[in-house]
Amino acid sequence: MKERIAVYPGSYDPLTNGHIDIIERGFKLFDRVIVAILKNPSKQSLFSIDERMDILRETFKDRTEIEVDCFEGLLVNYLRKKNATTVVRGLRAISDFEIEFQMELMNRRIEPECETIFLVPSVHYSFVSSRLVKEIYQLGGEIKNMIPPVVDRKLKEKFGR
Ligand code: PNS
Repeated sequence: MKERIAVYPGSYDPLTNGHIDIIERGFKLFDRVIVAILKNPSKQSLFSIDERMDILRETFKDRTEIEVDCFEGLLVNYLRKKNATTVVRGLRAISDFEIEFQMELMNRRIEPECETIFLVPSVHYSFVSSRLVKEIYQLGGEIKNMIPPVVDRKLKEKFGR
């Protein structure tokens, strides 16, 4: 039987427990999930691509069904390269819907074979985002339950706490 492969693309700056929740849900539907970090030189990031790859690799080191990778350029071209046609994206709230809906339709317009499956994370993570996690950490707030241990360690290393 054909292997069901999904690509879960994102910035992952940094990986949160919300992302991990979506990846685990993806496994109920796919044999393999490729977690693909976008290399986007025009977007300022806290963690470099190498740091983000290291975080993902360490988090999923015991999971052979999870491939960690990075890509540049169009997502649909990356899907073709990986022999995949399905994108997984998380939908936390209605506020995510508009941009995700637009991206899905645009991806399908440029690659008709491309389909996106939207997965809803646990309510425990419906308010968690990489942007807020970084902001709260930098302002001295507590984010421990929102990120995996490796991200906690890397943040401490970066900010010397
Ligand atoms: O985690 P993010 O920042 O919400 O992820 C956005 C991402 C990486 C999924 C999106 O920006 C993307 O797919 N970029 C690749 C370039 C591309 O294909 N752009 C057209 C999308 S319609």
